[in-house]
Amino acid sequence: MTAPIIRQLAELRAKHSDWIRAGERVAVVPTMGALHAGHLSLVAAAKAACDRVIVTIFVNPKQFNNPEDLANYPRTEHDDAIKLAPHDVDVIYVPDPGQIYPGGFATNVSVAGVADQMEGACRPGHFDGVATVVAKLFLQTGAHQAFFGEKDYQQLLVVRRMARDLDIPIEVVGCPTVREASGLAMSSRNMRLSDEGTKKAGALHPILTALAARLSAGGVFADLKKQSEAEILAAGFEELEYLSLCSAEDLSAVELAQGPARLFVAAWIEGVRLIDNIAV
Ligand code: PAF
Repeated sequence: MTAPIIRQLAELRAKHSDWIRAGERVAVVPTMGALHAGHLSLVAAAKAACDRVIVTIFVNPKQFNNPEDLANYPRTEHDDAIKLAPHDVDVIYVPDPGQIYPGGFATNVSVAGVADQMEGACRPGHFDGVATVVAKLFLQTGAHQAFFGEKDYQQLLVVRRMARDLDIPIEVVGCPTVREASGLAMSSRNMRLSDEGTKKAGALHPILTALAARLSAGGVFADLKKQSEAEILAAGFEELEYLSLCSAEDLSAVELAQGPARLFVAAWIEGVRLIDNIAV
């Protein structure tokens, strides 16, 4: 059975009160819809951890620095509800825009440090938009735990920092990236690729994996980076925005994978911007 879709905060709060009175634990899986197996893995993790699961669907205009990207973002609410049906979630919260950004909305949540590089540098304002909407979703759902994919690893760290700094009593749980057989990280943006583009994009993960192996063997990032960049472009990507090796803890740039580190990439193919990252 499809879960009830709630569009008004007051209705969500009424349900939440019943659950809390019954001593139940609540999970939230924030999404922008266009659900795929990656989102469904977050729902499965949320179901396993909590008594009640809220999936939120809100295409958040504040986190798009490019109006064309916002206009092209897939909106598939009906299909999303059908995909969620077998997962037995309790509520799909699809807030009316005024429930998130009421008239006169004037507050901005801005995280420094982990939000400054990579996505933060390439998409000005993006993480302010993410932190602001996620803070609202945390407060509106009153969830005990929130589930995010490691595919957006920088986002995961930004959201975790924001919740800690604002004393929002929620545990932010990171879940592994779900990949296609080729290694391509599942993303709502993959829908916009042709079959040919999807095939070419599948080259990204093996290139990252090979680079990670060289780094694990003691390689210096500056010595290896150029070759991997050339491989990404040769695979059919039109543009590479960044290929970075960073500390997995604070995202500072590193040259050697001595402590926990991750490789991060953002690249364009067929006019679609894809991001990925892996542990080294
Ligand atoms: O990862 C996403 O889909 C979005 O950035 C999020 C966390 C739902 C906030 O709009």
